[in-house]
Amino acid sequence: MTAMCLPTVYLNGEFLPFEQAKISPLDRGFVFADGIYEVIPIYAGKALRFAEHMRRLGNGLAELSIDNPYSNEQWEKILYTLIEKNGGGDLAVYFQVTRGVAKRDFGMPKGLQQTVFMMANPLPLPKAAVYEKGIACVSLDDFRWERGHIKSVALLGAVLLKNEATQAGADECVLFRNGHLTESSASNIAVVKNGVILCPPLDNLILHGITYELMIELAQKAGMPLEIRRVKRKEVQTADELLITSSTKEVVPITTLDGKPVGNGQTGPIFKKLHQLFQDYKKSLSAAIVEKTARAAE
Ligand code: PDD
Repeated sequence: MTAMCLPTVYLNGEFLPFEQAKISPLDRGFVFADGIYEVIPIYAGKALRFAEHMRRLGNGLAELSIDNPYSNEQWEKILYTLIEKNGGGDLAVYFQVTRGVAKRDFGMPKGLQQTVFMMANPLPLPKAAVYEKGIACVSLDDFRWERGHIKSVALLGAVLLKNEATQAGADECVLFRNGHLTESSASNIAVVKNGVILCPPLDNLILHGITYELMIELAQKAGMPLEIRRVKRKEVQTADELLITSSTKEVVPITTLDGKPVGNGQTGPIFKKLHQLFQDYKKSLSAAIVEKTARAAE
């Protein structure tokens, strides 16, 4: 079998070659999608916003009444061992925690040993041309469940929506529920109108994206006008710019929606500014890590 991820994975306390990682068919993650996941971007071997990703992972587990199997310190140790065993660099590390293995029963069995799986892949950031030209999206109805803030492994809705977008010849979808913007199949979306960044609130209908929160923080620190509020379909259709964010995309401009140009169809000034702020943030992060390592060595 060809390796579907980098060679060494983590499963239930062990670092293993991918081919040796085996999970029971009665795992509740397989049978009921009874678990949560995380994706953390790693730049030059260091995790971006580790604490925030761990907070979301902990919150998701609590929502499903699954005990978090590890402390943040334990997660961090496993994460950095996995990074090292896979050669470091720029990676996307995937975490999955399920309730564990049990006889198929809709009730929630107590006291199961959680299944913990982690793998690393090269960070699939978009090519330079994507940041220069933007992507094409189609509008679709958001038919997913109303607990979108839980990063559940039940991703069939996202898979169907992404497929619908692809079938329509687009790269991604822009989702609407009851006339308001929610997000994309696996990313958050913000709208720019008259120089103001409009951001849908972090409620139960969208994932609380770590990149989205970072984008909001960077924009606010830079004094860019920003409003967190519900955004109407009409405002999306008449936007000057649309932005899509995720751990594996950073911030990407959407330049076509439903076959029509967004604004003038080119990447806009707000995107360019946010892209630059993001790159500066990453640089400041690696500089801080170098400084911390140097101080530790003194
Ligand atoms: N997707 N919304 C949804 C539905 C998502 O699945 C994701 C992430 C995001 C962005 O969240 P973040 O900025 O924390 O990556 C928003 C990941 C990358 C995935 O499933 O692979």
